[in-house]
Amino acid sequence: MGRCGRPKAAILLTFLVLIWAELVAGKFLVEKNSLRVFTPESIKGNYDSAIGNFGVPQYGGSMAGAVVYPKDNKKGCQKFEASGISFRSKPGALPTFVLVDRGDCFFSLKVWNAQNAGAAAVLVADHLDEPLITMDSPEDGHASEEYIENITIPSALVDKSFGEKLKKALSKGDMVNVNLDWREAVPHPDDRVEYELWTNSNDECGVKCDMLMEFLKDFKGAAQMLEQGGYTQFTPHYITWYCPEAFTVSKQCKSQCLNHGRYCAPDPEQDFSSGYDGKDVVLENLRQLCVFRVANETRKPWVWWDYVTDFHIRCPMKEKKYGKECAEEVIKSLGLDLSKIEKCMGNPDADADNPVLKEEQEAQIGKGSRGDVTILPTLVVNNRQYRGKLEKGAVSKAICAGFEETTEPSVCLNGAAEVETNECLHNNGGCWQDMAANITACKDTFRGRVCECPIVNGVQLKGDGYRSCSASGPGRCRIHNGGCWHERRDGVTFSACLDSDDGKCTCPPGFIGDGVKKCEDINECKEKKACQCNECNCRNTWGSYECTCSSGLLYIRDHDTCIGKSASEVKYGWGAVWLVLIVLGLAGGGGYLVYKQRLRSYMDSEIRAIMAQYMPLDSQNEVANHVDEDRA
Ligand SMILES: *[C@@H]1O[C@H](CO)[C@@H](O)[C@H](O)[C@H]1NC(C)=O
Ligand SMILES: *[C@@H]1O[C@H](CO)[C@@H](O)[C@H](O)[C@H]1NC(C)=O
Ligand SMILES: *[C@@H]1O[C@H](CO)[C@@H](O)[C@H](O)[C@H]1NC(C)=O
Repeated sequence: MGRCGRPKAAILLTFLVLIWAELVAGKFLVEKNSLRVFTPESIKGNYDSAIGNFGVPQYGGSMAGAVVYPKDNKKGCQKFEASGISFRSKPGALPTFVLVDRGDCFFSLKVWNAQNAGAAAVLVADHLDEPLITMDSPEDGHASEEYIENITIPSALVDKSFGEKLKKALSKGDMVNVNLDWREAVPHPDDRVEYELWTNSNDECGVKCDMLMEFLKDFKGAAQMLEQGGYTQFTPHYITWYCPEAFTVSKQCKSQCLNHGRYCAPDPEQDFSSGYDGKDVVLENLRQLCVFRVANETRKPWVWWDYVTDFHIRCPMKEKKYGKECAEEVIKSLGLDLSKIEKCMGNPDADADNPVLKEEQEAQIGKGSRGDVTILPTLVVNNRQYRGKLEKGAVSKAICAGFEETTEPSVCLNGAAEVETNECLHNNGGCWQDMAANITACKDTFRGRVCECPIVNGVQLKGDGYRSCSASGPGRCRIHNGGCWHERRDGVTFSACLDSDDGKCTCPPGFIGDGVKKCEDINECKEKKACQCNECNCRNTWGSYECTCSSGLLYIRDHDTCIGKSASEVKYGWGAVWLVLIVLGLAGGGGYLVYKQRLRSYMDSEIRAIMAQYMPLDSQNEVANHVDEDRA
């Protein structure tokens, strides 16, 4: 099944992508920054370059450098250090911009190689006469391309003819100095920045998904602060595809789409026969859209950031928790109205449009200065697509560059928070808490609120931070009694917690119960557990019992029996007979010892008396000492 499923999946995927490509053909806008050459005189002027979709462009800023075109490894596909080449600039000199030719390997690899050799930026010269294109990172499935997230320098593609000009000037021995300028890369018309993130709830697509999730967690705090301060208006978006009409009843479309083929997503594992289907992803995307809408209605749109990050942490595909049940727990813990979200999601099986998803499909098509959205994830700032690594610092720069001069919030200027964002004050941030012990897993950090089990009295609590946190190991009973039952009555305390009993609560002897909420006294008298002999009088106490014997008999607790004062009076059990024999034996032995000691001390004093008649005693003390020793 898996074997024949795969090629079919691939065909359908291609089909979906083809349909998509057709839909958007020619509407993809390339985001540019300006490149100015200031020497040599012969090529001085402004040129366009296309911002690479990885690395860190300096939105709102500019950067000057000296261009270098390597003699070998002109395409930058091999490591430069291997041949002893370094682009590190000397102190006081302009940073090095490395010019490489397009072709033979991924754009990102060229930039990575140049960065490792000390380049400050990379210019890639196109090898075709064509309009500028956007250099993207390799598509999913190249797990070995993990270096992409470590690219920190900006890169830009320049067209073929400008590339030739640069090379010619360099070959003549000219010093070529250029300025890369991102100041106009984002429009900045007013004092509020509108931005959108085209995202996906799929958390299993490799490096790209990992980077997206990392960004969401990292940027959350800043996003929420900007939103709460009224500086930005953020909207999340989700791309969907549609199934060609002729295929809507096919098994493939059914497993990848909602609403009879109207809204589809590719299968997360590209295998229809196992794991999650595209349909599961579209449904969760729809839920996230609805979470945003419902949160936005209550004027708290920023709760979306909490939802998506919590969902990622609590409901990952890896743990098979991705889906409705887990999602609804997250929704509830964030205090959102579940019924409103359900209503917004509508019926995913209906043969009808879903207004929310339909709007998303329409929004994918470019309008105004923004081209079609085809790369996932894509950030759009003031209706202009952001290019570069999705990373907190770089994105913050791009958003801050979107404010009209002098209207930036102070967070853009000095990085200081100016809005009170302690979300733990509301609904405890949806995190675990123990009200009785006044401990909470909610922490307000610069990354927004996180739910993490706290350290209390030096003991690290463990758990998911959302539903549970409990102490373990030594000292765990000091923390709110380890979450176990305990009770004090009349100066006596009983506890179901033992430090050594890791993570468990066990009722102490004399009690029965779950050890957490309740331990109930066992009525030993009634349950016939003790004190049941004929002469026994049983009285239950809290946690124990008292037993007395009638007719002057003695109760022996260890043997749970009544015995008389002499062996003949033993009423029950051979154990008691043995006990009496042992007692007698001990008494006899004791008597002998006493007798022996008496005799000795008697003889001692007799001998002394006799001796004293013949010689004087050294001292009274010595006698006293001796006696003391003998007595002891
Ligand atoms: C990327 O950076 C991280 C942390 O700085 C490091 O652990 C990792 O090995 C780097 N990856 C590559 C491919 O250099
Ligand atoms: C969110 O709410 C604001 C006003 O409260 C509104 O202008 C905006 O269109 C809403 N966004 C969505 C996606 O509903
Ligand atoms: C709970 O603890 C916090 C700090 O840990 C403290 O500020 C607060 O007053 C405590 N509340 C109660 C009811 O004890």
